[in-house]
Amino acid sequence: MTPGWLVTGSGGMLGRDLLTVLAGEQVTALDRAALDITDPAAVRAAVAGHSVVVNCAAWTDVDGAETAEEAATAVNGTGVRHLAAACAETGARLLHVSTDYVLPGDAGHPYPEDAATGPVNAYGRSKLAGERAVAELLPEHGYIVRTAWLYGEHGGNFVATMLKLAAQRETLDVVDDQQGQPTWSYALAQRLVALGRAPEAPAGVYHGTASGRTTWYGLARAAYELSGLDPERIRPTNSAAFVRPAVRPAYSVLGHDRWATAGLPPLPDWRESLAEALGRPAFTALAPKDA
Ligand SMILES: NC(=O)c1ccc[n+]([C@@H]2O[C@H](COP(=O)([O-])OP(=O)(O)OC[C@H]3O[C@@H](n4cnc5c(N)ncnc54)[C@H](OP(=O)(O)O)[C@@H]3O)[C@@H](O)[C@H]2O)c1
Repeated sequence: MTPGWLVTGSGGMLGRDLLTVLAGEQVTALDRAALDITDPAAVRAAVAGHSVVVNCAAWTDVDGAETAEEAATAVNGTGVRHLAAACAETGARLLHVSTDYVLPGDAGHPYPEDAATGPVNAYGRSKLAGERAVAELLPEHGYIVRTAWLYGEHGGNFVATMLKLAAQRETLDVVDDQQGQPTWSYALAQRLVALGRAPEAPAGVYHGTASGRTTWYGLARAAYELSGLDPERIRPTNSAAFVRPAVRPAYSVLGHDRWATAGLPPLPDWRESLAEALGRPAFTALAPKDA
């Protein structure tokens, strides 16, 4: 087997950052057009010859999954099962990206990696099916890396939306009753690559979210402050004012103890990464200067 990496879903927000981090390595990058993970024969052919597979392919339309759970599960559950089965055949390690939405989100303290799952929406259930497939088929070579509140340069996300809206609205009402860990996709990509380079790391669940915590309101204010915009333009509201098709967990704060078993630190604090991300051209271009 060659020591090469395979990145599936390479055209997505995280996938594109992963390719940047892996520049110079031997990498096969397959976007959705090149590999549909719901096709088991194509998955088997794609996995052959790679030693580390990073799965960034996913159905990520959380609200859409409520009325299309079967289609979401075909990708997030069955598609991931195909990848895990192919890796089990060849001995490749699989780094699979999952979500905080597999958890119920009703705790009052950070969820440890072995906390009981209990998704509150269809997307979460579909992602849990993928986690179970990885754990079942790859007990020694399967890595489930849960992330949350992801933002990056190469995809639609909350931070980009807030900055774009600054040009259109004087004030913005943002929910202040959901706790989470805003995670820069580039920082997660760096950590995935570090995990891929650590063959002795024990298989199982890792929490790939930023350290610290805030609310969407806190994140929007920080993004404005760091972009030279007046944070007072962001006003707090609650989830009842923004009802959406899929229920969102109120408490998405994850613990990071397991990284130590892989000899790696947790991801940096969310504010530190946000400051770095907002210095990147894709974000500076979005933020108009306050008059
Ligand atoms: N974004 C977040 O806030 C967040 C939070 C928690 C967890 N995650 C997880 O993080 C991972 C990366 O998310 P992301 O934000 O980078 O999402 P993304 O930008 O939507 O990327 C997902 C990619 O998967 C592709 N894809 C969809 N169905 C596919 C299929 N059947 N076969 C192959 N590729 C397929 C998509 O292609 P198309 O665009 O053509 O459909 C897209 O390029 C996912 O596992 C997601 O569940 C994300």
